Amino acid sequence: MPLGPVTIAPSLLSCDFSRIGEEIARVEKAGADWLHVDVMDGHFVPNMTIGPPVVEAIHRAARVPLDVHLMIDEPERYAPHYAKAGARVLTFHVEVTRDAAHARAIARAFRSEGVAEVGLAINPGTEVERAAELLDEVDLVLVMSVNPGFGGQKFIPGTLGKLRAARERLDAYEAQSGRHILLQVDGGVKVDNIAQVAAAGADTFVAGSAVFGAGRDADPHRYDTVIAAMRAELAKVGK
Ligand code: DX5
Ligand code: ZN
Repeated sequence: MPLGPVTIAPSLLSCDFSRIGEEIARVEKAGADWLHVDVMDGHFVPNMTIGPPVVEAIHRAARVPLDVHLMIDEPERYAPHYAKAGARVLTFHVEVTRDAAHARAIARAFRSEGVAEVGLAINPGTEVERAAELLDEVDLVLVMSVNPGFGGQKFIPGTLGKLRAARERLDAYEAQSGRHILLQVDGGVKVDNIAQVAAAGADTFVAGSAVFGAGRDADPHRYDTVIAAMRAELAKVGK
């Protein structure tokens, strides 16, 4: 698992699903560190996407770690299937939990299924505190910068403050515990805002439409160009 200064995780939600194997090879060649896989159930979010058999097929095609983002109710019920399908990082939403004890139990259930990195996501309208009180249980905190459900939405600027608050909590936790927790951002991340998002504290960047484009794109170098431009922007803010 690259635990370097920054991780770029293109979201396959915006790729051409009819040619997913080629898309994976192409985006990996362009320098993707992880592949982000968005799982939606039509309940927690108003959209449905990828089930375990498809994740398993993605896993067979992929060489980099799979970062599976569960936007679903009852994540503990489906975690074994996604873990078995090859999720390296498996993230659930705190909004689907009743309380901190429930969230803790889910994180532990993920671990007992052999998940290497457990992630906890918060929506734009959710307090950072709900993740901050669970840092002992997780390896990654995901701050959503759009309301989950669809790719191609606009970054919500108010989430920069939430990233800063999360960064402070993670730094304090690391100083006290010695454990490093990743801070991921997901939604509307583009070449022109990634530096600002990194300066607010994120180190793991999901980017769907920015990398894959709004639709089929004839430019064979698009993925290389976008990922290289993102890394250049990150370098400008010392990341
Ligand atoms: C949104 C998903 C995102 C989405 C990001 O619910 O969680 O991962 O694919 O897409 P962009 O980068 O286009 O906002
Ligand atoms: Zn996502």
